[in-house]
Amino acid sequence: MTFQQETMEHVNNYLDKLTDFRAADMSQSQTALVFGLGLVGGVWLLTQLLTFVRVLLSLFVIPGRSLRSFGPKGSWALITGASDGLGKEFALQIARAGFNVLLVSRTESKLVSLADEIKSKNPSTQTKILAMDFAANKDSDYEQLKSLVDNLDIAILVNNVGKSHSIPVPFSETPDDEMKDIITINCTGTLRVTKLVTPGMIQRKRGLILTMGSFGGLLPTPLLATYSGSKAFLQYWSSALGSELEPYGITVQLLQAHLITSAMSKIRRPSLTVPTPKAWVKTALNKIGRRGGSPHFYYTSSPYFSHGLMAWFITCVVGVWSNWLKNYNLNMHVGIRKRALRKLERSKTK
Ligand SMILES: NC(=O)c1ccc[n+]([C@@H]2O[C@H](COP(=O)([O-])OP(=O)(O)OC[C@H]3O[C@@H](n4cnc5c(N)ncnc54)[C@H](OP(=O)(O)O)[C@@H]3O)[C@@H](O)[C@H]2O)c1
Repeated sequence: MTFQQETMEHVNNYLDKLTDFRAADMSQSQTALVFGLGLVGGVWLLTQLLTFVRVLLSLFVIPGRSLRSFGPKGSWALITGASDGLGKEFALQIARAGFNVLLVSRTESKLVSLADEIKSKNPSTQTKILAMDFAANKDSDYEQLKSLVDNLDIAILVNNVGKSHSIPVPFSETPDDEMKDIITINCTGTLRVTKLVTPGMIQRKRGLILTMGSFGGLLPTPLLATYSGSKAFLQYWSSALGSELEPYGITVQLLQAHLITSAMSKIRRPSLTVPTPKAWVKTALNKIGRRGGSPHFYYTSSPYFSHGLMAWFITCVVGVWSNWLKNYNLNMHVGIRKRALRKLERSKTK
């Protein structure tokens, strides 16, 4: 063998060994990669499964805190938007649980007849009413409310009053007064009432503050943009307030709801996914302190079973920011607007 041939053989041997070594190294790193990905996937799947189990337990099994734990006999609940829909149900059911009720909304005659109904059903319950228009945002109304609140032990506040668009509408075509009223009622009204009630609760080191959120605040909702933004505002405001007030023994909870039969939703017939105010409020009051189908937001609950499962699906499976959901939501509201406009046309020609 010549020197050149010997050298070539050494080089070839060396290259063969290097290739073997690389192959072994590659297969080791590939195995590590597959193992690592499998582990991450497994942990993700397990957390998803545990979240779903937690949602099911919260919606169907574990009861909420008793209302009585927030205030003794003789204490009061203040309910805004109390004369109709969900507010009226909150008033009736909280009064039945043994609290006196301070009822606030726009139409005095409706408040008087609700107060009479409550007293006839629960003779020992005391009631007070205040007719005020939250859209007017008058200091004199809030002063009157303050003088009532300052003399009562308010154990429960239900920030229920709310306004939506009369029909889905592109933002640029939203009537100015509708836009202003939605923000003034939903946001300013809720903040001003809560500010009147919290000092007493902090002093007494107890209380419950419920605020009506909406799926419109969970998901950016086209053609209901101002309403959607106002409810998203309440979502973050309420969660922040929850952190602030927890050390004082006060429970704050934003309640997320999808559609419920009422004057606002304009749906009259209940179904599996559209409960009556009575059914929805009963569940919400039985699940205080539970998150229901809303595991990602703290101090928040989506208490009704079908809404809770929808909230879980939107936040945990599809994702709030998914393109599919964005397009679905847009098409749905474009459809609702078309039907509402046709209905308006028909009512004009009648
Ligand atoms: N229904 C749903 O599908 C649904 C879904 C998600 C969230 N929500 C939320 O749940 C809450 C209640 O909705 P709802 O469906 O029960 O509404 P609703 O049936 O239309 O009742 C609204 C209540 O608020 C009062 N109100 C309206 N405007 C007022 C104002 N400017 N000043 C004072 N009071 C006023 C009304 O009193 P008057 O009758 O005297 O005007 C009535 O008592 C709202 O915050 C809403 O955003 C509802």
